[in-house]
Amino acid sequence: MNTTRSEAQIITRSQFRKDILCGLQARPKYLQAKYFYDHQGDLLFQQIMEMPEYYLTNAEMEIFSKQSTAIADLISRDKSAFDLIELGAGDATKSVHLLRELMAGELEFSYLPIDISANVISNLEDQLPNLLPGLDIKGLNGDYFEMLDKGIALSNRRKVVLFMGANIGNMEFKEAKSFCSMLSASLSKGDLLIIGFDLKKNPKQILAAYNDAQGITAAFNLNLLHRINKELDADFNLQNFEHYPCYDPDSGACKSFLISLKEQVVHIGAQNQIHFEANEPVFMEISQKYSLQEIEAMAMATGFHFVSQFFDENKYLVDAVWVVD
Ligand code: AVJ
Repeated sequence: MNTTRSEAQIITRSQFRKDILCGLQARPKYLQAKYFYDHQGDLLFQQIMEMPEYYLTNAEMEIFSKQSTAIADLISRDKSAFDLIELGAGDATKSVHLLRELMAGELEFSYLPIDISANVISNLEDQLPNLLPGLDIKGLNGDYFEMLDKGIALSNRRKVVLFMGANIGNMEFKEAKSFCSMLSASLSKGDLLIIGFDLKKNPKQILAAYNDAQGITAAFNLNLLHRINKELDADFNLQNFEHYPCYDPDSGACKSFLISLKEQVVHIGAQNQIHFEANEPVFMEISQKYSLQEIEAMAMATGFHFVSQFFDENKYLVDAVWVVD
């Protein structure tokens, strides 16, 4: 019974190796942020979300805890049954508010959370039905698009896609645009997308969120090297790398790098050696920030149009509601 599962893990591990080697053999070097989230990475990200500097958590929590009735009303304008697909569901502490409102209404729906972390999906499937008795939930573990297509194919109901947590920020501007275009192409006319963007704001406040005093974000980045050591039999010395975040208020790009503190060679398995110059950067992650104009232009350029938007009191973050044209 477990064959499919272990096969899937073997494919995942070889894909992991391929992606890591590809990034470290590129110039400039990079690693993919989607690989941050192993078990330890999940725990560190939980800690990030609880840091005082990381304003994003509270901002989006406020939107969902205070405005879920209004969001549920928008979804319920169309009285037909639907599937609520959440991309990157995490621990679903925000979406729970919306789910509760939707369950209080008369509409029939299934909740299909998608996450790259297998831990996250099994926790949700275990715990959400206790919190929300009667919830129809089916978790999908894997890459967004593979799982989205799988989720869409599960029924011919209309779809509501939730993409919160400013996860779109992990894509470069162009990548985000093609992501939204692919999303609208996979969906049907009238389907809804609820998408969270972190807004441009005081640069110091943004930088602080990725440069916390306790060093949790640094540990979160370094953990990927630790994961590569463990899973790909590599010998990164974490002492020899340093977390370097920066924010460009012009473009809105907040980027994290790991800097090699000296010239060094790292082995990945028996076959691969990676050379690092002193002070050579490895690009780890982008957290792109947006203006409201950029968000509206994004909707129009990618096959959606604007329906509504929800802000936290401070206007740090926006959850935009778009409909497929
Ligand atoms: C999960 C992509 C929204 O970019 O703010 C937090 C990830 N990285 N601190 C973000 C993250 C470092 C986070 N997202």
